[in-house]
Amino acid sequence: MDDMMIVENLGRHFKEIYGDGNPGVFFAPGRVNLIGEHTDYNGGHVFPCALTLGTYAAARKREDRTIRFASLNIRGGEVTECSLDDPALMLDGSEGGSTLKAGADDWTNYPKGVIWAFAEKGFVLPTGFDVLYYGNIPAGSGLSSSASLEVLTGLVLRELYGFAGVRQEDLALLGQRAENAYVGMNCGIMDQFASAMGKEGSAIFLDTNTLNYRYAPLAMSGMKIVITNSNVKHQLVTSGYNDRRKSCESALELIRAHRETESLGSLTCEEFAEISHVLPEPERSRAKHAVTENARTIRAVEALDRGDLVEFGKLMNESHISLRDDYEVSCPEIDFLVDEAWKIPGVLGSRITGGGFGGCTVSIVGDDAVDEFRNRIGAAYGAAFEGQKADFYVIEAGAGAHRIR
Ligand code: GLA
Repeated sequence: MDDMMIVENLGRHFKEIYGDGNPGVFFAPGRVNLIGEHTDYNGGHVFPCALTLGTYAAARKREDRTIRFASLNIRGGEVTECSLDDPALMLDGSEGGSTLKAGADDWTNYPKGVIWAFAEKGFVLPTGFDVLYYGNIPAGSGLSSSASLEVLTGLVLRELYGFAGVRQEDLALLGQRAENAYVGMNCGIMDQFASAMGKEGSAIFLDTNTLNYRYAPLAMSGMKIVITNSNVKHQLVTSGYNDRRKSCESALELIRAHRETESLGSLTCEEFAEISHVLPEPERSRAKHAVTENARTIRAVEALDRGDLVEFGKLMNESHISLRDDYEVSCPEIDFLVDEAWKIPGVLGSRITGGGFGGCTVSIVGDDAVDEFRNRIGAAYGAAFEGQKADFYVIEAGAGAHRIR
C-alpha cells in the first residue's frame, strides 16, 4: 500500500470504529542505524536514518476524559479504553514504574507512557481523544516500531492540544522518557531521535552526549542500502540490552577511579588502551566496543563526506565483528546473513543493526548485485536454518515525524 492508500484506509476504519468525524492524520518513521551501535547510552556518536516505513495515526480530540486506543495491526482494531483519571496515567511522584499499574506487556503502554511523560513536563491533557494506529514496520524486526509509536503519539498530542512548546527534538526526548521510565526498557536516544528528526535522502550524525547533530546526504550513487530481516527475535532483547548497559556503566566507574572521564564516548582508542588494564572481563570487552565503535562512526561519516564508500563499508564490517566478539549481541542467524553478504562481490559492507539478539542486518550493495544478494542469501539462509525465511528491503532515507492531514 502506498501512503495515499494507507491514509484512506485509516480514515475509513476510523469512521467505522469511532463514528463520523474528521481526524488529523500523522506519521512517524522507523529507523535503521548505519553505524554507531550501542554508543548512544555511552555518550558516543550514532549514524541512523529514518525509513519510509513507520506508524500512522488518525486521531481526534474528545469532549470528555476518555481515551480510546485501537490499532489495525492488533486484534482487528479492537478498542482499549481508559480515562485521564486512570491511576496508570497519573503522576504519583514515583519513577514511572507505571507498567506495574498499567498491566504488563500491553501495546497501549507505549502511548500511555507518552501521555504520562507529557504530563510530567507540564503538558497535561484537558480532555481525552480517539486514536487509530496502523504500522507497516515488520513486527519484532528491530527497526524501531516502538520508538515510532512513541514519537507519533507525542506528535498527535502536540498537534491536537496545541502544545506549541514541544519541539521536534522534544518528541524524541519525551518518547525516550516514556520508554525508560514507563515501559522499562533502558534505551538511549537514537531511535526516537531518528524517528522525530529524519530527513529524506540523509542520515543523521548525532553526538548523543550533546545532542548536536548534522544531516549527511546518503550520496551513494550505484549503491543501495539493503535491510535483511532474519525474522528471529531472541529472548534476551530487553534483559541482554539492560545488562550490556550496566556493564558499560561499571566499566566507566572503574575507569573513573583512575582518570577523569565524562563517558566512554569521550575516550579515544589510545586513551582506552592505556587504561583498559584496570577492567575485568566482560567489562573490558564491552567498553572496548563502545570506545572503538564511536571512533569507527566518526571515521565512517568522514569517509562518506569524501565519497569513500569502500572505507565506509569496511568500517561497517569492523563494527559487526566488534558487536559479535566484544559486545556479544549477535546470534548465529545474523552472523550467517553477514558472512554470506561478505562473500558477494559488489557488497561493500554488512553488519547487524539495532539492539541485537536477532532482528536485521544492513548492507551496502552495488545496484547490479542486489538480485544476487537477495537470491543467494535467501536460499542459503533457508537451507542453513530450517523453517527460517529472510526478508529483504531496499530502503531510502525518509522524513521524520510529520502531520499528513
Ligand atoms: C536499541 C536502543 C537504542 C540503541 C540501539 C543500539 O535500538 O533503543 O537506543 O542503544 O539499541 O545501538
